[in-house]
Amino acid sequence: MEVVVLAAGQGKRMRSILPKVLQPLAGRPLLSHVLTTARAVGADRICVVYGHGGEVVRQALDAPDLAWALQEPQLGTGHAVLQALPHLQGEGTVLVLYGDVPLIGTATLQRLAAAAASDRLAILTVELAEPSGYGRIVRDPEGRVHRIVEEKDATPAERAIREVNTGILVAPLARLRDWLGRIGNNNAQQEYYLTDIIALAVGDGVEVVATHPDTEVETLGVNSKSHLAQLERLHQRAIAQRLLDDGVTLIDPTRIDVRGELICGRDVEIDVNCVFEGRVELADGVKIGANAVIREARLGPGSRVAPFSLVEGSEVGADCVIGPYARTRPGTVLLDEVHLGNFVEVKNSRIAGQSKANHLAYVGDADVGERVNIGAGTITCNYDGANKYRTIIEDDVFIGSDTQLVAPVRVGRGATLGAGTTLTKDAPEGQLTVSRAHQVSLSGWTRPKKKK
Ligand code: UD1
Ligand code: CA
Repeated sequence: MEVVVLAAGQGKRMRSILPKVLQPLAGRPLLSHVLTTARAVGADRICVVYGHGGEVVRQALDAPDLAWALQEPQLGTGHAVLQALPHLQGEGTVLVLYGDVPLIGTATLQRLAAAAASDRLAILTVELAEPSGYGRIVRDPEGRVHRIVEEKDATPAERAIREVNTGILVAPLARLRDWLGRIGNNNAQQEYYLTDIIALAVGDGVEVVATHPDTEVETLGVNSKSHLAQLERLHQRAIAQRLLDDGVTLIDPTRIDVRGELICGRDVEIDVNCVFEGRVELADGVKIGANAVIREARLGPGSRVAPFSLVEGSEVGADCVIGPYARTRPGTVLLDEVHLGNFVEVKNSRIAGQSKANHLAYVGDADVGERVNIGAGTITCNYDGANKYRTIIEDDVFIGSDTQLVAPVRVGRGATLGAGTTLTKDAPEGQLTVSRAHQVSLSGWTRPKKKK
C-alpha cells in the first residue's frame, strides 16, 4: 500500500513560527506520530505533501522511506494528493492520511485498508453530535454512500447529516489518477476537493464503503494550541490506562506524562506529576516519587526515586535510592544499593554497590568503588576550564565533608579523607589524608571593640 500524508496546510491558528505538523504531542512532532502509524500498517512508500515552512519539516523528519512533494500554492486536498501522484508506484491502493491528525490507530487503518480494493473505495467516517465544519456523507435511499458535500457547499438538509468525513480514505491508485484528473474547483471555496472523487467513483460504478474508527479521538485534528492541549490530555489518559491495565500503580492517572516509551515491570508505583521522556525502563517494584523527571534511563528492581529528582541518561541497579532533589546526568551508572540524597549531582560516573552520597555533592567523571561514603559537600573538581579529568575512589573509602578532589586524582582502597581536605595528590590506601591548617586557639585574644 502507498501512503500520502497531507501536511501542506499552514496552521495559522497555532500562532507559531514552528509549522503545525512539527508541534509536539507527547514530545514528538504531530507528523512523526502519523509516519510511525503509516509504517506500522505496512506502507510500501510514504509521500508527504508539504508546503508552507515545509523545508523545516523535511529537515526535521526526513528518512529513507519518505518522498516529499511540494504543493505550492495550496489549492485544496485534491490538488495536494495530485502533487503526490508522481511519487506513487504500482496499481495497488493508496491510503490518504492527514499530518495534523496524529492519533489515528493502526487497527482502524487496517480495517479501512481491508475494505478497499482495485474496484472499491473505502472512506473513514464518524457520526458526530456536533458535525459542523466537516464534510457530510450523503447516502442514497438504499443507504449507499453517494457523495461528500463540504459544509460550505451544503444545503440546510445536508448540514443536518451527522455522519462526517474524517478525510482519511483508501483508494485504488489507478482509479485515483483518473478521478483526480477530472475534479474541478467549481465550489464555494474554489478548491480542488479530494472529496469530489466519491461522486466520480459512484458514477463509474465503483463501490464506496464507509468504515469507522475504533475511537473518535483517533480522528481529531489539531488546528490550535487549544486542540493540541486537549489531544495531549486525551493521549496521556490513554497511555495511563494502558499502564494501569498492565498492572502499574498510578496514584493519579490524570497526572502523568509519558513522552516516549515507558516499560514497566511488576508492582511499579508512580506518584503524581512525573514525566517520562525517551525510553525508560522501570524494573519490578520500582517506586517513583512525586514530581520526578526520568529521561532515557533504566532502573533496576526495587529502586526508588524520591520526589523532585531528575534522572537522565542513567543506568541504575537494584535497590538504589535517588533523591529527594537529586540529579543524575548522562553517563551515570549506579550499581546495586547505591544511595544519592538531596542536592547530589552525578555525571558520567560509575558508582559501585552500597556506596552513598547522601547530601550536597558533585560527583563528575569519577569511578567510585564499593561501600564508599561520600560526605556532605564533597566535590570532584573535574574541569580545569579547558579539559576534564577523572577521579578514582577505590572500595571502602570514607570521604569527610567539604572535601575537594582535584582531578586527576586517586584515593586508595580503605583510605579516609579528613573533612575539609583539598586533595591534589593521590591518597594512599588505608591511611588518613587530611589537608587542613592546624587548629590553634589563642587564650589571650580579645575581640576588637568599636571606636568611640
Ligand atoms: C477536509 C475535508 C472534509 C473533512 C475534513 C476533516 C476536503 C475538501 N474536505 O476539510 O470533508 O470533513 O477535512 O478534517 O478534503 N491540505 C493540504 N493542502 C491543501 C489543503 C489541505 O496539504 O491545499 C492538508 C491540510 O494540511 C490538512 C488536510 O489537508 O492536514 C485537511 O485540510 P483542511 O483544510 O483542514 O480541510 P478541511 O477544509 O477541514
Ligand atoms: Ca480541518
